[in-house]
Formats: sequence, structure tokens, C-alpha cells
Amino acid sequence: MIPIIIDCDPGQDDAVALLLAFASPQELEVVGVTTVAGNVALELTAENARKICELAGRSDVKVFAGCPRPTVRPLRTAEHVHGKTGLDGADLPAPTMKLQDEHAVDFIIATLLGHEDGVTLCPTGPLTNIAVAMVKEPRILPKISGIVLMGGAIGAGNTTPAAEFNIHTDPHAAETVFTAGVKLTMLGLDVTHQALTTPERLAAIRAIGTPVAAAVAGMLAFSGKRNAERFGLAGAPLHDPCVIAYLLAPDLFAGREVHVAIETASELNMGRTVVDWWGSTDRPANATVIDRIDADGFFALLTERLARL
Ligand code: RIB
Ligand code: CA
Repeated sequence: MIPIIIDCDPGQDDAVALLLAFASPQELEVVGVTTVAGNVALELTAENARKICELAGRSDVKVFAGCPRPTVRPLRTAEHVHGKTGLDGADLPAPTMKLQDEHAVDFIIATLLGHEDGVTLCPTGPLTNIAVAMVKEPRILPKISGIVLMGGAIGAGNTTPAAEFNIHTDPHAAETVFTAGVKLTMLGLDVTHQALTTPERLAAIRAIGTPVAAAVAGMLAFSGKRNAERFGLAGAPLHDPCVIAYLLAPDLFAGREVHVAIETASELNMGRTVVDWWGSTDRPANATVIDRIDADGFFALLTERLARL
């Protein structure tokens, strides 16, 4: 049983990551869900996380609101991808479960300091909360079992030619996290653009026939449309659930331990993850960068788990 904190900005794909985690209680203990401004504003990401908890029948899960904006740069949200609500494509009721009073950063700190055997952090949005927790309380660093994050890219970005959305939104936070010396696994666009929600895969999810499956199919159809058209892909890349699937079935993935630096000076390349894939420098590896996935195996796992909710 791996204790995890999911730090997210739901966002349809974050929502599916949450559901995959909730559907896997034998392997994952979701100690808490922290939310951050990213795809949409914090108020909405905090509300959406609770909508998904209740959709999964998990109103027992503690949900916390974190930072309402990046550490240095202004917040730029992505309603054009995720819709006004951030969860367009599913018509979910307003949550009845309450948001925790404690700030997400304080929850992350308290949980890490209080957990004997360490906790794995699973950021699927901008890294603002994680970085602020590290700066506020450096004693948490040795208590982090690992960070498995969705973000960055070896190749082209999706927000600028150089940068992926999560890292581009808060590159300074990403630099703090990538230089913290913590065990880091980066699932970037190179791997998530192989996890395509094709019509067949979407149909298999819809065929589960439950309210959860209907909501997932609706959300992925909505967010997928623009993604697939824009990138000319057979379906929308399913980014954030790759983080949870990596914890559940690491053998579905492959990658390499390399050095990753974050661009925070050049406006042109702001937020780029500079991945030393071919060992061109003598910089020591600070991350395992994943570049391959068994996409059929991933969707089989996702579909099987969603059917349990
Ligand atoms: O670039 C994709 C990432 O940005 C995903 O986490 C998506 O939810 C958005 O946060
Ligand atoms: Ca996200």
C-alpha cells in the first residue's frame, strides 16, 4: 500500500487520475487531495476535486485548497482546453463535502513530517504547492518517498513550442522541485502523447455503463476533441492518469535516469524542461524521465479499474 498525496488542477485528465487512484485501494492510500491553480482558477479546481471525490463515493477524502497563483509569474489558465468549469463534458452536481480549512501546503508539510515511512507526492498540475512546501519546511525533503509528476517534455511543448503547460505555468516552482534532490519521476508529453484516447478506447470506457464511466467518457470526449484536432492525433493524449498508472503498473512504462534542468531566464524557452537525454553534459541525473508506455496495457488497466467504481 503506497501512501500518496495527489496535488492536482482538475481538469478532466486530473479527474480521471483521481478516479483511477480511488479505484485502486489495494495498492494506493490517498492520504489527501491538494489542489492548485492551473487549468482553471483555484476555487474551481478545489470544487472540481470534491465533485470527483463524490462521484467516486469518496466524500471521506480530505480535499485542500493550495496556492491561487504561480510563485512568480501570473496565472494563465486553460479554459480553451478544459471549458469554463474545468470539467466540461460531465454535468456533475455541486459538491456537498466541505473543503478542509487547512492550506494545502500546510497539509503536505504536516503529513510528510507525521508519516513514519514517507509519502509519495503525485503532482498533476503546476508544482506551486510542492515547491512552497519545500521552501517553507525543508525538513520534509527526506520524508518524501518520491515525486511522480506529469509535466515537461523531452521534445516540443504544448503551451509554447518549448514548454509543457504544468511546467510553463510555474517554472520557478518546477526549478525548486527539480533541484531538491528528491527521487523524481517525470512523465512528460513524450509518453502521454502515446496514451491516446482513441474512439475505440473511449467506447470501451463508455460501455462500462456506470455513472462514473459516463462522466469519464463525457469529459474525455470534451477535452479530447480540441487536443486531437490540434495535434492531429488519433485521440486525445491522456496525461495525468499516467502518473497513477505508473505507481500501479510500472512495467507498462520505460525511461531513463537523466539530468533535467528548467529554463527560467529565457522568455522564448520559459518553462522548458531541458532533458539531457543523450548525456551531453556531466550534470548528474536528477530524474527518471519516462518516454515509453504500453498504451493498450494502460487503457486496459484504466478501463478495468474504472469499472470497479
Ligand atoms: O500539459 C498537460 C497538463 O496540463 C495536464 O496535467 C493537464 O491537466 C494540464 O494541467
Ligand atoms: Ca493537470
